[in-house]
Amino acid sequence: MQIRPAEFTDHGSIDILLKTAFSGPDEARLVVSLRAAQADALELVAEADGVVQGMVLFSPVTLKPDLGEAIFGLGLAPLAVLPAVQNRGIGGALVEAGLGFMRPLGAPFCVLLGDPAYYRRFGFQPARAQNLHWDNDLNDQHGDAFQYLSLAPEKIGSLSGVASYHAAFSALE
Ligand SMILES: CC(C)(COP(=O)(O)OP(=O)(O)OC[C@H]1O[C@@H](n2cnc3c(N)ncnc32)[C@H](O)[C@@H]1OP(=O)(O)O)[C@@H](O)C(=O)NCCC(=O)NCCS
Repeated sequence: MQIRPAEFTDHGSIDILLKTAFSGPDEARLVVSLRAAQADALELVAEADGVVQGMVLFSPVTLKPDLGEAIFGLGLAPLAVLPAVQNRGIGGALVEAGLGFMRPLGAPFCVLLGDPAYYRRFGFQPARAQNLHWDNDLNDQHGDAFQYLSLAPEKIGSLSGVASYHAAFSALE
């Protein structure tokens, strides 16, 4: 299996992958919107035998801390693996590759909305525990699902405040 940046010629396969892995078309539409807005900071695919088996996309997130200026980081969404090849480490490899690419570029943090049972293995922790909230869910109705990872813990540890995804996400809400 090879993990590499997504290319224009992958877009059709990614569309089918997203519509297969998720129950509806929302995530496929989100990816198209993020690309159109040039908010696809990093889009990776996992390919084996010429078939796109998984994808992950990172987009910009603005974090307004309780004190001080806004800090710009990343949001991980969506992450998807073809159902036939799930539980073989492809999703994990995509997450690790994406975070590994972004860390040396100076991205300070990554947030996501997902199952903590899956994402804690990569170091993500519930954001509400550090008083960090998603602007679409200020009362934390998603519980521990909104998660945070510092990508530069020696410079930036836990941050409190309010995080906002790119406007393309508002169509999902
Ligand atoms: C979530 C997803 C990307 C994981 O990819 P994957 O390649 O199957 O996962 P990996 O092989 O890297 O990891 C497998 C492990 O994750 C666990 N896992 C997979 N999906 C999980 C989920 N939704 N919640 C909790 N744990 C999950 C498996 O039980 C397995 O655990 P183990 O290592 O203890 O045996 C994939 O299942 C998928 O595409 N699901 C549908 C789309 C989706 O829900 N995307 C995530 C949105 S936040």
